[in-house]
Amino acid sequence: MGRCLRTVSCSTFKPQNPSGPAVPTDTVSDTLGDSRPDKPLGHIVLAPMEGVIDAPMRRLLTGLGGYTRCVTEFVRVTNVLLPERVFLRLCPELEAGGCTENGVPVYTQLLGSNAQVLAINARRAVAMGAPGVDLNFGCPAKTVNNSLGGSILLRDPSQVADIVRQVRDAVPADVPVTAKIRLGYDNSDQLAEIVGGIREAGATELAIHARTKFDGYKPPAWWREVAAVVAADDDSTYINGEIWTVEDSLAARQASGCRHLMLGRGALSAPDLALRIHTAARNAQLLAQATGSSDSWPSEQSRGTDTQALADEAMPWIDISHHVEAQFLRSDSQSPRHVGNRTKQWLAYLKRSYPEANDLFGRIRQQREVEPIVRAFAEHRQALVGELSPLKLVG
Ligand SMILES: Cc1cc2nc3c(=O)[nH]c(=O)nc-3n(C[C@H](O)[C@H](O)[C@H](O)COP(=O)(O)O)c2cc1C
Repeated sequence: MGRCLRTVSCSTFKPQNPSGPAVPTDTVSDTLGDSRPDKPLGHIVLAPMEGVIDAPMRRLLTGLGGYTRCVTEFVRVTNVLLPERVFLRLCPELEAGGCTENGVPVYTQLLGSNAQVLAINARRAVAMGAPGVDLNFGCPAKTVNNSLGGSILLRDPSQVADIVRQVRDAVPADVPVTAKIRLGYDNSDQLAEIVGGIREAGATELAIHARTKFDGYKPPAWWREVAAVVAADDDSTYINGEIWTVEDSLAARQASGCRHLMLGRGALSAPDLALRIHTAARNAQLLAQATGSSDSWPSEQSRGTDTQALADEAMPWIDISHHVEAQFLRSDSQSPRHVGNRTKQWLAYLKRSYPEANDLFGRIRQQREVEPIVRAFAEHRQALVGELSPLKLVG
């Protein structure tokens, strides 16, 4: 399907290096050149990320803005109706109407292969207040795939469709049922069949991580392959994978034909990314109107080459570091056996956009207690301020 590069790698769920190498944008996308989307920007959804995007992180990122919706880490369903506490552990927002503090809905994600059992668990999640149910057909982890859940199901499009149909039928018609897939298992030959089955089965929306299970998390994401299943009037498909910058978002939209985006690691690496993507789209539209272009994006001549100029400046590190510290104090410092783990994990993603995160990471890397970590934040801030206003020597 027109790929310029094909690397086969079988990875587990977690990428080996979350911060990733500092790769220039054009080597991680499969589209080079014009990144001018035809359709106006739609919604941006915060991707599910097991062990990383939990309720406190959803609260923080939706607080910064730009997200229409979140999806929980997956709830693994085998052959039983799970107790309510399992849903509440992964989605404490269920106790608050299924939304984050900022009113952004959080869909509960289920992962499993038994359609009937998934259906009764979906019904329970909805009865507890989930505003929507998402079905995971993308997880590449060996343990999950061995028990026939996640991306391994993509080898059988009819089973995927059957699961969507039974879950759809089990919950009230006005509750959205969404699905998250990859391009396929070891290749993307069945993508159209998988997507067709999911749509016919009544899924409300579909997010496509533009890589196969065999691709794992290895760049690039093959956004262009998604275009084959996105019609001009398609308003239900989300493109996902390797969107780290505003530029990437434009290229992904242009290549895939999707209006909507799902952001995972990019949201952790640049916490205000969704907001900046919206700003850039709004500014582009205003500019297009002012220059009399009928498109949602200004013409090449009036746009110039610097699309980044249409977005706001990224939030400065000093502000981000305050959020990291507040997050540490609010949640990460409260888990006695794992103090600092989530903060270190987040800093690993932040390092990709903010070199300053390296310094903070270095200061807390060996620490496992609250006090030295709090001290490390203060020392890091002091070092930053020193750098911002170097001492002037007189005489
Ligand atoms: C650490 C980690 C955990 C993830 N957990 C989930 C999950 O629970 N459910 C799911 O559907 N996808 C999960 N994913 C996949 C992401 O939602 C997303 O599809 C993938 O990271 C590609 O998008 P990105 O480049 O924007 O991160 C996970 C990915 C990572 C890296």
